[in-house]
Amino acid sequence: MKLSDKKATLSFSDGSPSVDFPVYKGTIGPDVIDIRKLYGKTDMFTYDPGFLSTASCESAITYIDGDKGELLYRGYPIEQLAVNCDYLDICHLILNGDLPNAAQKADFDSLVTHHTMVHEQLHFFLRGFRRDAHPMAVLTGLVGALAAFYHDSTDITNAHHRDVSAIRLIAKMPTLVAMAYKYSQGQPFIYPQNDLSYTANFVRMMFATPCEDYKVNDVVVRALDRIFILHADHEQNASTSTVRLCGSSGTNPFAAIAAGVACLWGPAHGGANEACLQMLEHLQANGGIEKVGAFMEQVKDKNSGVRLMGFGHRVYKNYDPRAKLMQQTCKEVLSALGLEKDPLFKLAMELERIALEDPYFVDRKLYPNVDFYSGIVQRAIGVPTSMFTAIFALARTVGWIAQWNEMLSDPDYKIGRPRQLYVGSAVRDVPKKR
Ligand code: ACO
Repeated sequence: MKLSDKKATLSFSDGSPSVDFPVYKGTIGPDVIDIRKLYGKTDMFTYDPGFLSTASCESAITYIDGDKGELLYRGYPIEQLAVNCDYLDICHLILNGDLPNAAQKADFDSLVTHHTMVHEQLHFFLRGFRRDAHPMAVLTGLVGALAAFYHDSTDITNAHHRDVSAIRLIAKMPTLVAMAYKYSQGQPFIYPQNDLSYTANFVRMMFATPCEDYKVNDVVVRALDRIFILHADHEQNASTSTVRLCGSSGTNPFAAIAAGVACLWGPAHGGANEACLQMLEHLQANGGIEKVGAFMEQVKDKNSGVRLMGFGHRVYKNYDPRAKLMQQTCKEVLSALGLEKDPLFKLAMELERIALEDPYFVDRKLYPNVDFYSGIVQRAIGVPTSMFTAIFALARTVGWIAQWNEMLSDPDYKIGRPRQLYVGSAVRDVPKKR
């Protein structure tokens, strides 16, 4: 963080003295006004519900330029990473700051691979859930429960503990997500197999059964690996901010990540992929492409409460670059699996076509986000809709843990404690006899 030459001056219409605040520059992106001393100097807070203009921290991990539609992990454009790296390269990059060389890659992949098994007792913990529980409810519980199983990596003041917990979380998430799925199906859990890649291993744990040999399909692995890469980190979004806020109290990493999983579940955030596919299926079942026009009218009618799921983003006011890559993967997967005529894909393309021309969407700068196509890809490769957000959580775990670690290493780190504008009753006495 570099001090800028300029400073910000806040003046008041009632004649109170004006106050100056330092301005800092990042590498790229908007400058920030440091208002930490505002309350001390003026007896006032800032008011910014939803954090529309508030930078909550300094970070060197991910950068988004919402107007350009640009996403960088540690400075590298997502378009280049998506075609040149696998997901574990991305994990190394996000966690450690750079892509691994060959020796580092071998070590990192082996380290993750050798932490994929989970404590056997977790199977019994999982069996306490109803089989029809939503996988995100199960995952929130399982991730939080890791703190009860891995006490030897919960000391947040110990850098080694922090590293071990990061590797454990990245390595065990696929196992936990696959277990949640198998349990919902009433099928036996499949143990990880160390001669497979991270993503191939996940595919096998999801879809193999003990009754027959399972050959992992490379098309499916590539598509899921792409989904993992595109979801690995995304700046200070709602779930990442939740992880930071939760972690700022000094809680253990598993508890902080469980909070992130819970936040991600919401339909305005990670739950949008599930909601988007449900929307497409509903539309398909109720007239399909013929009814797209009428549906769009509903979306534009503020009284209907209907939103075009998978569209719009707080930061992107241009095409989400991940959506472009996901659309490309979608085409590849559907063609490789002989599903080119998939009606939901056609429906999605038509909705996108109309939205990109319609003044309602154009004026509000609403474009497809990553979730618009990710559901169609996952459905094509056999992932049930209810698992979509759990897979997102798996992929985002590296971003959450890297951001949590970055926060703890920041000398300016403090417990997060927003203030408020109180509009409730002023002091009053409790009536003596009620
Ligand atoms: N469909 C219809 N109208 C929309 C949509 C949409 N998907 N998204 C935004 N709008 C409209 C709003 O009604 C509002 O209109 P107004 O100015 O006339 O009141 C305007 O666009 C701005 O929308 P806000 O909700 O104020 O924007 P915000 O930045 O708070 O919300 C969000 C962003 C939550 C992503 C929103 O666009 C949305 O609900 N999208 C659908 C859900 C979705 O796809 N979420 C996934 C996000 S990406 C992710 O988490 C991986």
